[in-house]
Amino acid sequence: MNPFVGATERELAGAVADWATRLAERIPAAEKEGTLPRDLIAELGSLGVLGMTIPEADGGLGASAVAFALVLEELSAAWPSLAVGVAVNSGIVAGSLVRFGSPAQRKRWLPMLMDGSGLGAFALTEASSGSDAASLRMTARRDGPGWRIDGRKQFITNARYAPFAIVLARVGELDPNRTSAGITAFVVPLDAPGFSIGRAERKMGLRASDTSALILEHAQVAADAVLGEEGKGFAIAMSGLDGGRIGIAAQSVGIARRALDMARAYAKERKQFGRPIADFEGLRFKLAKADSDLAAARLLALRAAWLRDRGRPFTREAAMAKLYASEMAQRATHAAVQVLGGNGYMRDYAVERYARDGRATTIYEGTSEIQRIVIARSLLAA
Ligand code: CAA
Repeated sequence: MNPFVGATERELAGAVADWATRLAERIPAAEKEGTLPRDLIAELGSLGVLGMTIPEADGGLGASAVAFALVLEELSAAWPSLAVGVAVNSGIVAGSLVRFGSPAQRKRWLPMLMDGSGLGAFALTEASSGSDAASLRMTARRDGPGWRIDGRKQFITNARYAPFAIVLARVGELDPNRTSAGITAFVVPLDAPGFSIGRAERKMGLRASDTSALILEHAQVAADAVLGEEGKGFAIAMSGLDGGRIGIAAQSVGIARRALDMARAYAKERKQFGRPIADFEGLRFKLAKADSDLAAARLLALRAAWLRDRGRPFTREAAMAKLYASEMAQRATHAAVQVLGGNGYMRDYAVERYARDGRATTIYEGTSEIQRIVIARSLLAA
């Protein structure tokens, strides 16, 4: 029987943690090759994990945001590269379609996010628009009954696995006084004429996760490719990122937790000066502080998810969770490397990979600086 159907939030997270124990042996080769094994994506699909945020009426598990945060923590603890692919697929991509898709769009696209045949992509960032997302340059023009899209996206997670991407493009001229005006979200299938995948990035961490460019050269899409209302795409992207930021907070918690678990185990084993290094107060205080920070970050992530589940505003709380948890993950993973000393710096011990993988969390889905802007705007508007 599928252990994921009808499970409570904790049971879901526990089932994912059990499933993820099989990943360890697959990670070194996949990180070296820079690919996520397709069979594991397919397994996550058949277990229902990829569709866990999608309502039951659309064929998903209909799990809560709290459950998704707990599951992402487990997947991230096991393998951050796989977790980010799932976070984007089942978080911002699925969430945008569920909230803004027409019945026909939901019916057509949601099964592809659930069945394990691939992982969806969300294409907002361009070479000249990162933090200033509203300054994007990709254009969409009416062309016969449909649209023609031109431009280039960069740093797109899952591009190589995606059956389709949600692409943000500008309809009409750029209004320098209101740059977000005209931005429209489109669902662009991989096989759309003029749509291709560009260079895969070589990254510091998360090496098995795909990060590639998307190129749209006179890409032809049908009239029904518009997601939500024409001109309202920026709000779709921003509200999608609100949810995505809970996912990155949960990811940060998972990464930090596993790095600290490794540090704790090592400190109890490793002897110097005739006793386990865990006996030394300098190290005990370091671990105690990191464990307290970890618990605080998890609570912030779960608070944002809980608010979301209740239909309450959570933009500020998601930004706080992402800011605090991602910065906590930097401290925790670097503390873990330090506890392992020379061994922590060596690739034979996975701690160095967690430190490299965790580095992305203060950057993607909005840098720490952007989270501070979001929090301050909300705080001062109140
Ligand atoms: N929900 C809904 N609508 C929102 C919103 C939200 N959270 N935030 C803003 N909006 C709306 C505003 O109400 C406003 O609407 P009107 O014009 O109708 O009034 C419009 O969007 C513009 O808002 P702002 O004036 O606040 O926009 P801004 O240009 O000042 O930008 C920003 C705000 C917060 C800095 C935003 O640009 C931002 O979040 N930047 C970071 C981008 C980012 O996170 N990129 C990550 C890329 S995706 C990724 O990393 C995924 C991955 O692969 C892992």
